[in-house]
Amino acid sequence: MDRDSLKKAVGLAAIKFIQADSIIGIGTGSTVDHFINALDFIKYKIKGVVSSSEQTTNKLKKFGIKILNLNEVKILPIYIDSADEIDHQMCMIKGGGAALTKEKIIASAAKQFICIADISKRVNILGKFPLPIEIIDISRSLVTEEIERIGGTVRYRKGVITENGNIILDVYNLSIKQPEVLEQHINSIPGVVTVGLFAARKADLLLISNPSSGIETITR
Ligand code: A5P
Repeated sequence: MDRDSLKKAVGLAAIKFIQADSIIGIGTGSTVDHFINALDFIKYKIKGVVSSSEQTTNKLKKFGIKILNLNEVKILPIYIDSADEIDHQMCMIKGGGAALTKEKIIASAAKQFICIADISKRVNILGKFPLPIEIIDISRSLVTEEIERIGGTVRYRKGVITENGNIILDVYNLSIKQPEVLEQHINSIPGVVTVGLFAARKADLLLISNPSSGIETITR
């Protein structure tokens, strides 16, 4: 089974968690795209979706699925998204697709975060995948200096402006043993909008696809 088939299988597996008449928060990325393809078949069952990006919004609109503004949603029972890495405490690195800020806002507003991922995303220690940080452009040197002080190697993601009008730094060479501490620390640097560490808001449930054992469900 190739990686895309694993993503497709786990996207489909998430459908059984969707309750009738509910509103769903949805992330961004290729795994989520497979979930949306499957959601198309049960779209009449749901009230609508809070979307984390233009990519996701455009796909949902193509299927005629109603988009809702988070500010107008009272209860968001569920948020479905993938991750770039997920550890055994259900902490994640996200933001490979630059949608991390809205993803973190919607995930934090949701009662339950279901992470859908193929087995390649599962790690013992976060940090092999470069950690994205969305920052305000003027803070680039300040943030870089502080991240280098704590041992990271910073690379500016060229040509990328986020939907919020900011830039992204990717941090290499981190071995993240205390994700909550690091998330708090990076968040405290002036100019940081969002760090792509999801530790304060972990996943509650992980659906993981594996070529040998199919879909495994892991709860926190
Ligand atoms: C988007 O900003 C990211 O957080 C994605 O959720 C993450 O990169 C996973 O993407 P894929 O499903 O494309 O691997």
